[in-house]
Amino acid sequence: MKRIGVLTSGGDAPGMNCAIRAVVRTAIYHGLEVMGIERGYAGLIDGAARQMDARSVGGIMNRGGTILRSARSEAFMTPEGREFAAGNVKRFLIEGLVVIGGDGTYRGAMKLADEHGVSCVGVPGTIDNDIGGTDYTIGFDTAINTALDAIDKIRDTAASHDRLFVVEVMGRGVGFIALSVGVAGGAEEILCPETASDINGMCARLELGRKAGKTSSIVIVAEGDETGGAVQVGEQIKQKTHFTDVRVCVLGHLQRGGAPTAYDRIMASRFGCDAVMALIRGEKNVMVAAEKGDIMTRPMSDSWTLKRELNPHLLELAKKLVV
Ligand code: F6P
Repeated sequence: MKRIGVLTSGGDAPGMNCAIRAVVRTAIYHGLEVMGIERGYAGLIDGAARQMDARSVGGIMNRGGTILRSARSEAFMTPEGREFAAGNVKRFLIEGLVVIGGDGTYRGAMKLADEHGVSCVGVPGTIDNDIGGTDYTIGFDTAINTALDAIDKIRDTAASHDRLFVVEVMGRGVGFIALSVGVAGGAEEILCPETASDINGMCARLELGRKAGKTSSIVIVAEGDETGGAVQVGEQIKQKTHFTDVRVCVLGHLQRGGAPTAYDRIMASRFGCDAVMALIRGEKNVMVAAEKGDIMTRPMSDSWTLKRELNPHLLELAKKLVV
């Protein structure tokens, strides 16, 4: 193998730049050339690629986003789009491709492999931490710390004004961010898509807390929760409790950017390095994955066939600590 390619696809996540750097420098260390493909699969279809040297990834570890830029490509969903992409893989003499992104990115890679024989290795990169088969995805730690910082600030205002705040966090229909920041931020209630949302029970508990002397409260709602989101939950609380001063805050995309934490930088570097090593070993259609502190490779299909569950101990803890 002489040359590999690397791309980032789907939502950007803090730490992706560290993964790109690790891919480029590990490849060069082992005598390989690297092509950086811009805007994910969209750039692969357009032939937007440049050769990357060690210096091209200097000074990027502390930068959020992705220097290769990212996209969600509609064209790549079509067989014609993938044919163009595979043609460019050949044209650029790329013998293996590292794809950094979420399970949608892997599904695309598998199609490229099945239809055109392109060898791909996935690196888990999404703030949602929702990829099956791996305990961790790049960007999650930074995202929860960013969200926590915002929630701490909101709590200052909630406490000063005796208010109840409903805060919506990202998660694309899963509650990993919500549960983590809910526990870390001492939220009174955490609503996740994975658990049944009992609005009446929640309102009764919030009322009990108010009567027991709590002057302010924070409710965390995960994006995609069955309640419909923070706005709807805020309305229900106003109708069903004596909290009159209810405010809603949707944190949105501020959770996606920013300098990666040390943990994300280290994990991204390990993932990026191991993805190149997997290609060198001749592994195909695998993703690098974290399991109990180790990094290993697993079939890419694990990312969508295995479902990650919320940690039951954290769910239990969240209930106990808000009495
Ligand atoms: O997957 C990361 C994520 O930020 C999700 O949490 C969210 O649902 C989605 O991407 C938002 O996507 P977009 O940036 O395309 O609006």
